[in-house]
Amino acid sequence: MLKVENLHVEVENREILRGVDLEIKPGEFHVVMGPNGSGKSTLALTIAGHPKYRVTGGRILFNGENINELSPDERAKRGILLAFQVPPEVEGVKIIEFLQQVLVELKGLDPVEAYDLIVKKAEELWFGEEDLHRYVNVGFSGGERKRLELLQAVLIGPKLLILDEPDSGVDVDSLSVISRKIEELHKKGTSILLITHYGRILEHIDKENVKVHVMKDGRIVKTGGGELVEKIDKEGFAEIFEEVGE
Ligand SMILES: Nc1ncnc2c1ncn2[C@@H]1O[C@H](COP(=O)(O)OP(=O)(O)OP(=O)(O)O)[C@@H](O)[C@H]1O
Ligand SMILES: [Mg+2]
Repeated sequence: MLKVENLHVEVENREILRGVDLEIKPGEFHVVMGPNGSGKSTLALTIAGHPKYRVTGGRILFNGENINELSPDERAKRGILLAFQVPPEVEGVKIIEFLQQVLVELKGLDPVEAYDLIVKKAEELWFGEEDLHRYVNVGFSGGERKRLELLQAVLIGPKLLILDEPDSGVDVDSLSVISRKIEELHKKGTSILLITHYGRILEHIDKENVKVHVMKDGRIVKTGGGELVEKIDKEGFAEIFEEVGE
């Protein structure tokens, strides 16, 4: 489904990704870990098509199509959704209007049908109807923004969901809700690329089948199974990096 081949990416004339290879097959669950500044968000934003991130080498294929030149919008239409590490405020756009528009455009629902569905799903993520009439993320707390990103994902049901630290700044109870929702999406067939620093977000996820990648200085230096998450939680990165000679 997603194939990243020898990807090199520059930001502001500095090379950040230095040859990333990654393949995600339909329905798979991948986790990316790595120290601050190792290039995790850069990878996520590049796959989603953020204009600041310039691909200087390699390819990104989605279902066989080279998407390097596609706009973020066109990538979204093909089924790629990114939940941001820091979800931006959008002044003047109400959550309900935005989500309705997305469901009408992407799913062909009529606006009333969309409205009812949004309210129902919002409740599952602890948002009342009145919250939905606020502007997107404006004045929302960090944890609330993360839940709002998940609401978007649940409603859209993308083919590939990229989650950039959905657990950062989130309290334990919200974390549990978010972890469950991710698993729910995964069970329905969404492929997941989850960026995180801690294993706790995988609480409700079947760790047997996850693939874990460890990034360092713009490269994936190790790939393994769920056991890598526990190892990193306990011991940090030093031993892994030593093992692979980094
Ligand atoms: N827009 C940008 N302008 C300048 N430098 C950038 C930009 N985006 C990323 N970088 C740099 O690229 C490097 C990788 O950043 P990135 O955000 O991908 O790291 P990360 O692995 O997501 O880290 P964290 O765990 O802290 O979120 C960092 O050194 C960062 O300063
Ligand atoms: Mg990041």
